[in-house]
Amino acid sequence: MTEQGWTLNRETCRVSNLRALESFVNINSDAPTLELGRGLQQPTTYGVDGMPRIMAFAGSARRESFNRKLVATAAIKARTLGADVTLVELADYPIPLFDGDLEAVEGIHDNATKLRQLMLDHDALLIACPEYNGSITPLLKNVIDWTSRPADGVAMSAAYRGKVAGLLSASPGSLGGMRGLVHVRAILSGMGVLVVPGDMSLGGAHSAFSDNGALIDDKSNARLERILSTLISTTAALSSATS
Ligand SMILES: Cc1cc2nc3c(=O)[nH]c(=O)nc-3n(C[C@H](O)[C@H](O)[C@H](O)COP(=O)(O)O)c2cc1C
Repeated sequence: MTEQGWTLNRETCRVSNLRALESFVNINSDAPTLELGRGLQQPTTYGVDGMPRIMAFAGSARRESFNRKLVATAAIKARTLGADVTLVELADYPIPLFDGDLEAVEGIHDNATKLRQLMLDHDALLIACPEYNGSITPLLKNVIDWTSRPADGVAMSAAYRGKVAGLLSASPGSLGGMRGLVHVRAILSGMGVLVVPGDMSLGGAHSAFSDNGALIDDKSNARLERILSTLISTTAALSSATS
């Protein structure tokens, strides 16, 4: 079963939790539907062993989030381009607002530890983040802050240093959230992440997706594929250079 980039094939996709995947993307129908499911419990993994491992997530947990749609579509495209992609829902890992006193008393929150381990287990990050007042969302910043903390023998920012990242954003506005990505890029770069050039900021996001969750516009699809190709090739090149 194939079609424009993101259809899955039950025989070829490796998933960590098939039921979770089925609640996310309808892989049984001839016209698969991207159904953004929350509460998946298990991250959904697509891909093939030996390929660059990408952890994909959105900086929004909103039920109808455009950024969740964008990163889900991107995750499936990246898999077709040869990456091993784990799509993570931050809503499945609720974490309190970072507070040094809370950390001192209770240590790193369990969900932050789980997210940090997921990051450590991947070579690259693919993040779709909305722009809030010209900047990063509090959800994404909070996740970055918690997962950057040193603990349990893991050094400060260890989950980020040496990683490659690709950045996406979506907004109903015409600029697509591009101003926010400037800040996301600066934060990640400062932590030792190689953020690939060529972010994608999807404007008019409220009318950019078809009912099944795919991007309607050919130019948007082409741009997304270019960014994903750069992310995958850069990650593969870095992995082979350091192995
Ligand atoms: C607090 C807040 C600030 C926002 N600031 C911006 C902004 O600076 N630029 C922009 O394009 N959209 C802005 N928006 C609109 C978001 O782009 C829009 O709500 C978008 O749908 C959020 O992403 P999501 O659909 O992935 O949740 C803002 C929304 C909120 C709630």
